Amino acid sequence: MMSQEKIIAQTEAYVRETLINGGAGHDWWHVYRVWKNALHIARTEPVDLFVVELAALLHDIADHKFHGGDETIGPKTARVWLEKLNVEESVIAHVTKIIASLSFKGAKVATPMRTIEGMVVQDADRLDAIGAIGIARAFAYGGSKGRLLHDPNVPVELHESFETYKNSPAPTINHFYEKLLLLKDLMNTETAKKIAIQRHMYMENFLKQFYAEWEGQDCQP
Ligand code: ADP
Ligand code: NI
Repeated sequence: MMSQEKIIAQTEAYVRETLINGGAGHDWWHVYRVWKNALHIARTEPVDLFVVELAALLHDIADHKFHGGDETIGPKTARVWLEKLNVEESVIAHVTKIIASLSFKGAKVATPMRTIEGMVVQDADRLDAIGAIGIARAFAYGGSKGRLLHDPNVPVELHESFETYKNSPAPTINHFYEKLLLLKDLMNTETAKKIAIQRHMYMENFLKQFYAEWEGQDCQP
């Protein structure tokens, strides 16, 4: 039986190799940041760290967006990998369950987490969608889809289903109202909540400046 340390190291290498050229926000460095965030949040939570680390490392190993919308591809790919390393079934079941329940699916779609390990990883992933990094990721994603930065004539929509959320062609600024500004209040842990408040303020300042520049209001004496 391989040690937990070795399993983590091998998983890190596998994910790094698989996602190193991943575009539109799901590159290795996103996973790296989520992993670090998760370790930080986990310090103040009673968790099985092995499960937290494996779920953080494998959470974006295969994205439904690049597999014809197949939402089971992520957990399936993670399972195949963990079985190859002979990880025990209870850990595999827990990790794949976390991966399956992680994603944001729309402003009005609930995405509950049942275990503290899942809550930590969900918070860690959501922290990487807000703040300076979150802003950068949103515009990188919008750019990859050829979307406008902003269009004052396109109203914000709070999506009721994952279908309408993921197929929305709205400009990237709308994504702030449809997801990014909502995340602060969706954090599961106190530690993540504190970090989220800072990152949230940073986004609000960004938006204020963005709208001022849009109308050239900052050009006046
Ligand atoms: P994750 O669950 O890792 O946050 P997603 O696949 O939902 O992954 O999104 C990847 C990144 O792209 C995130 O930073 C997210 O906020 C951003 N993103 C997703 N949908 C949009 C969109 N419609 N417009 C702009 N950015 C988006
Ligand atoms: Ni992610």
